[in-house]
Amino acid sequence: MYEVATSLLNAQKGKEPEIILNLEKSRTDYFHIDVMDGKFVERNTYKWMESICSYINRLSNLPMDVHLMVEDIRSSIDDFSVFNPNIITFHYEVCKDDEEVFEIINIIKQNNSKVGIAINPETPIEKIFKFLPYIHVVLLMTVKTGAGGQPFISDMYTKINNLKKHKDSNNLDFQIEVDGGINLATCKQVKEAGAEILVAGVAILKAVNYKDIIDELKK
Ligand code: DX5
Ligand code: ZN
Repeated sequence: MYEVATSLLNAQKGKEPEIILNLEKSRTDYFHIDVMDGKFVERNTYKWMESICSYINRLSNLPMDVHLMVEDIRSSIDDFSVFNPNIITFHYEVCKDDEEVFEIINIIKQNNSKVGIAINPETPIEKIFKFLPYIHVVLLMTVKTGAGGQPFISDMYTKINNLKKHKDSNNLDFQIEVDGGINLATCKQVKEAGAEILVAGVAILKAVNYKDIIDELKK
């Protein structure tokens, strides 16, 4: 069984509570929260994602998977830790050196969340190998970071598989999460390549029945 994290980035404004309840009923494994600051990526979803997290805290016990696409990682950890997310993921590309990556890993752990490192499609996977024994999740971006509804970049199948091979041959136990362009057409190959947590936004939110899609993605 694979896990599904539903991205709320393309949720219809004003309908958040309804959507959250419907996703819970449809057994999403996580709510995937796309925090954007208008600097690391163009769009700014910061305040809106804070309000979505507070709805989730009130309406659901399901875990939150917070994906920080921001330059000021430390402040964002402070701002989003109040919602008790299960996972906080930050981008490797934002950090100035390895020391800073280790520092942020520790800050997230001190805030009682699991740690994820995200990397953009063009960042080589080898860059994060040294951090893998200390983290819980690697989030591989499989579209250009910053927007939902884009097509999956097909070169990413090999990248997922290279990470999976490295994980197995080194007996590591982080989870491999993929984000962007995941739908019924791409999910089979993504799973075969080694992904364990599938983020999906548009594929689920645009469906008539969330549960049908979530069930298929989990299989
Ligand atoms: C993009 C976000 C994704 C996005 C995925 O930067 O990180 O989580 O919402 O959306 P879909 O599934 O629509 O490609
Ligand atoms: Zn995301």
